[in-house]
Amino acid sequence: MIVESIVTTVDADGRVNCAPMGVEWGDEVIVLKPFLDTATYRNVIATQAAVVNLIDDARVFARAAISNPEYPTKPASVVRGVVLVDGCSWRELAVHSIDSTPPRSRIEMDVVPTGPPYDETPFTFTRVPRRICAPPMQRKPSPKTTPLPPLICVVPW
Ligand SMILES: Cc1cc2nc3c(=O)[nH]c(=O)nc-3n(C[C@H](O)[C@H](O)[C@H](O)COP(=O)(O)O)c2cc1C
Repeated sequence: MIVESIVTTVDADGRVNCAPMGVEWGDEVIVLKPFLDTATYRNVIATQAAVVNLIDDARVFARAAISNPEYPTKPASVVRGVVLVDGCSWRELAVHSIDSTPPRSRIEMDVVPTGPPYDETPFTFTRVPRRICAPPMQRKPSPKTTPLPPLICVVPW
């Protein structure tokens, strides 16, 4: 299953990068496929780590796809990286193997056991065909963001 996520990484100097990435989701291994010219790829090579954040605010996807917006973060508990404070859930990841065949890498990453289980996550964007992928929001809106109405999203492919 591909889950649309916000991948946070840090560079060698600790600067944070946020990027939307569709990741292959697994309980023990999550696969990232960043193109070789992305900051995400460079940062994972540098730190051997990433955090996959699940978040229900589509604006974060839109902004992070075209820029590197700054959002509140907290340090990851085990790997070198940060967690989005306003996310619904997250996974800390450590590199298991890297295939850097151009143009797009395939990075298998071990899930570090932190964060709540996936089935307790109230919201994800997935690419399951024709699936209604977003139930009404169950999460209490963060006071730092504008509350969003319940969102139903039908993926048309
Ligand atoms: C929903 C969504 C999923 C994406 N998935 C990927 C992906 O798997 N790999 C990738 O390299 N770029 C992906 N992109 C594009 C990157 O987010 C975008 O090119 C980003 O600016 C590059 O990331 P960077 O900040 O790491 O340089 C995706 C974009 C969106 C909106």
